[in-house]
Parts: sequence; structure tokens; C-alpha cells
Amino acid sequence: MRGDPRHYTARMKNARSRRPATTPPIEVRGNPRQPLGMSPAQFLRVYWQKRPLLIRNAFPGLVPPIKPNDLAGLACEEGVLARLVRHDEAREHWQLKTGPLAEADFAKTGDRNWTLLVQDVDKWDADVAKLLEPFAFLPSWRLDDIMISYAEPGGGVGAHVDQYDVFLIQGLGQRHWAISTDPAAPKGFRPDIELKQLVRFEPTHEWLLEPGDILYLPPDVPHDGVAVGGPCMTISVGMRAPSRAELTGDLADYLAERLPDELRYADPDLAPVKAIGKIDAAALTRLRTALPFAAALDDDALRDWFGRFITRYRNAQTPMPPARGVPAATLHKQLTVGARLLRHPWSRLAWARGSAGATLFANGEAWPAPAAWAKALCAQREVTLSAAPSAAAEVLLLALVNAGHFVVRKARRQ
Ligand code: SIN
Ligand code: CO
Repeated sequence: MRGDPRHYTARMKNARSRRPATTPPIEVRGNPRQPLGMSPAQFLRVYWQKRPLLIRNAFPGLVPPIKPNDLAGLACEEGVLARLVRHDEAREHWQLKTGPLAEADFAKTGDRNWTLLVQDVDKWDADVAKLLEPFAFLPSWRLDDIMISYAEPGGGVGAHVDQYDVFLIQGLGQRHWAISTDPAAPKGFRPDIELKQLVRFEPTHEWLLEPGDILYLPPDVPHDGVAVGGPCMTISVGMRAPSRAELTGDLADYLAERLPDELRYADPDLAPVKAIGKIDAAALTRLRTALPFAAALDDDALRDWFGRFITRYRNAQTPMPPARGVPAATLHKQLTVGARLLRHPWSRLAWARGSAGATLFANGEAWPAPAAWAKALCAQREVTLSAAPSAAAEVLLLALVNAGHFVVRKARRQ
């Protein structure tokens, strides 16, 4: 039926799904009811951790809750994290001084191209802490701190990326912000500078921020802010997000602290060894029983970790690399039929077959290895060459010799 509302709804849905997807605006205007220019729910859905957003007039009439002089005074206090960054434009030289700073440090700064950054100002100043209130829609434990920077014209920290979300609130004066939303933007750091500045930075968007404007940046967006015209203050509400490496390390410590010492790797089902040193499928099954929380690891990762771990575990000593490295050409000449490879007494070896071939483990390290060689080196402390090794075996032997696990001796006279 034409007039049937069910048909109408279906037509509307189809029309909606055919509409081209529009990119959300990168710039909006805040208002007293919605400082972010939208509801917190919409901000979280569309921008949070996804795309940058410039909010004009988010905090109209904002007066910075701390004066530049008081910020400088705080930077001179013991226990306050502060940095003074100077940029010599002519020589393209950056200078970083970390706090606690002294009054004399400010005497040398001049009236251009420097900035002072003080972290955790919310912990030292209750009025500054109040600036966190509009961000109460975010989990409080995700908040890191309020960092406040004061800059003279030309002052900034250079183009960089941060690994956290940040709301850059313009507190005083004007700042020119340039960002890159190019997902392929290079993220390499300049090696010479402690400031982790980017080697290359090509902005896709640029704005001049006025007091009360906010630039929201998700993690990993290249950005560069430079004070313009006169004194400039930027109030950064920074978030924190532990890396997966930190989460994993801490969880492992947490679990380890709670496990009794008597619970150990156990193998009451052990069958006689077929290949000396091999970490076999039964060993992996036992590991999975002992480590139920490692269920997400595939066999290759579990094997690789365990091979490194078990060849390092409880070693009182470990072989040292030779004083002078052995060049590949020298080793090649030494590896003639009858030559002997002697294993270092402190060398602890194991091997395993994985989906990409065999691996030889030695005192916590791992090398790809031809399976026959991994097997032979684990099985005997002294291996006599019955044929010249393959190229892949030579690569392995070179690594083992240069790590101090083996020495080569000439063939015995008959
Ligand atoms: C600044 O306030 O100068 C730097 C803030 C930032 O880029 O994260
Ligand atoms: Co930054």
C-alpha cells in the first residue's frame, strides 16, 4: 500500500543509506550550553580518539587562573616538572633546560622564541584544577594533568606528536597552531634534540587561536604551536593511556606476586626425549596449562618466549662475546671438513620447530636455524664438520661464534 507508513520508513532508510558519507567538520563553535559545540556524547562518538577538532569560543572570557609570574615561580620549586625551551632560529638550534629552574634562567631568555612549560599545575593550584570540571564527562582516571605553557612570540616546542589525547586551551594571547591529519605523515624524530621533534612536518590545517578557543587532538597527530604577537599561555588538559606493553608488564607482575612458589612447570607425563634440547608440542601443552592467561598467544609466540626464557633461567653466568669479532670471511675459511665447533660450558641451548622453520635459542637469544644444525648443536657439546655448512648454517654459526657460544678449532691430525 502506497500510504503504508512501513513502506515510507523503508524508503527513507534506503535514501539515507545512499547518501554520501560526509566528513564531520574540523571546526565548530562552542556556546554557553555546550562548550564543545556539541553534546559530550556526540563529541565522544565523532571526535574522541578519532579526529582533531577546533572549538572556537569554548570558554568565552576565559581568564587564566594563574599569572605568568606565578607559573615561573612554580617552575623554580623543587619537585615541579618544568622545562624551559629556547629556539635559536638563525642557527636552527633548540635548547632545553629542565627544572627546578632559577631566576637567572629567565634573565637570559630575551623577549622572543622561548617558552616555559610546567606540568601537573592542577596539583599545585586549586584554581587551575577547577579547569578540569568541564571535562568531567571523561573518566577521571584517564586524566593525566594540566600542563601550562607560557611563551613569548616565536616560542614553542617545535613540531611533534603526543601519545595521548590533549585539549589545548588558549589562555592568553594568540597561538598559531598547525596540525597534520595525513595518516601517512612521517613520524620520525630528529636524532639531535631531546624534544622529540619531527624530522618532517607538513601541515594540513592551520589556525590562529584566541583566548577561550580549544584545539582537541587525539594521540599521534603531528602538531606545532607557536606564540604570535605577544605573550601567550596555553593550558593543556592531557590524558593518559598506558601502553599495551606497560599493561602487560604490570599484569604479569601482579599475577606473579599472587602465585605460590610451589606451582611450577610440571611434566609428570614426560616421555623419553627424542631430540635433545627440543621444545616439543607436549612442552607447549604443559605451558598452556601453567599459563591459562596466555591463551591469546599463538604457539609460535609462546614457543619463542619460552625458548628465550628457559635458556636464560637460573644461569649463574653467560658466555661473553669474543674480544674481537670474527668476520664472516674468516669463519668461512675456518669451517672446513673436520673442523670442530666447541660449545662454551655456560652456553645453554634449546631449539624448536615453528611455522616459519626452526629456531635455536641460546641464553635468552634466538636465531633462525636449519633444523639439522639446531638439533646437532643441542645434541653435542662438540660438533665435527663432516661437510661444509650451507650459507644459512654459516649465518647461524657466525652469530653463535660472535656471541661467544662456540669457538672453531682446526681439524685433528690423523
Ligand atoms: C605548548 O603548550 O607549547 C605545547 C603543548 C603541546 O604541543 O602539547
Ligand atoms: Co603536543
